[in-house]
Amino acid sequence: MTEKEVREEMVRLGASLFERGLTSGNGGNMSARLEDGTFIATPTRSSLGRLRAERLSHVNLSGELLDGDRPSSECAFHLNIYKARPDCGAIVHLHSTHATALACCEGLDPDNVIKPFTPYYVMQIAPLPLVPYHKPGSQALFDAIASYAPKARCLLLANHGLVTTGASLEKAVNKAEELEETARLFFLLKGSGSRIKYLSEQEISQLKPID
Ligand code: 13P
Repeated sequence: MTEKEVREEMVRLGASLFERGLTSGNGGNMSARLEDGTFIATPTRSSLGRLRAERLSHVNLSGELLDGDRPSSECAFHLNIYKARPDCGAIVHLHSTHATALACCEGLDPDNVIKPFTPYYVMQIAPLPLVPYHKPGSQALFDAIASYAPKARCLLLANHGLVTTGASLEKAVNKAEELEETARLFFLLKGSGSRIKYLSEQEISQLKPID
């Protein structure tokens, strides 16, 4: 994809997430790797629903602004993931309602927050580690995310939100949607009073990862 196409896709997908209530206010951020190894990121304090292609931040791997508005205050954690994962082409961070509600629960399994009960969660997301709470935008949060980055495609940030990765922005957005819906289903099932029928180890072993 050309830089122009990446910028246009970020605006389009940001608006789509916003219109469907997956992000609100100034929460969340996104980035994508360009073919020359630099990155397009959402500017800090921007609404993902009202991005402007020409104002998006263009940064290098050291976090230096090449053009556009000041990048997300969390750009450093995106860059930490790109450094750890050469296959990663894009990152989405959202404070979507159900994933964030789950991130605020006590007693979660820190190695895989949601025990698998649907195949797409297994194929696109699991395992889902829980990154301990650190102040948004802090070096402690960036360091914590860097330590998980080589091991997982998606992360849940305690008391904060979700992080998903993909070869492209569309694929990272697909995972964010899948994770948010899985968290929503989890609460729906818990609230229904029925016991969840989790997938068995054998059922899980038949599923192949997809980006
Ligand atoms: P930025 O507006 O600086 O990207 O921060 C938003 C956010 O989601 C913090 O967690």
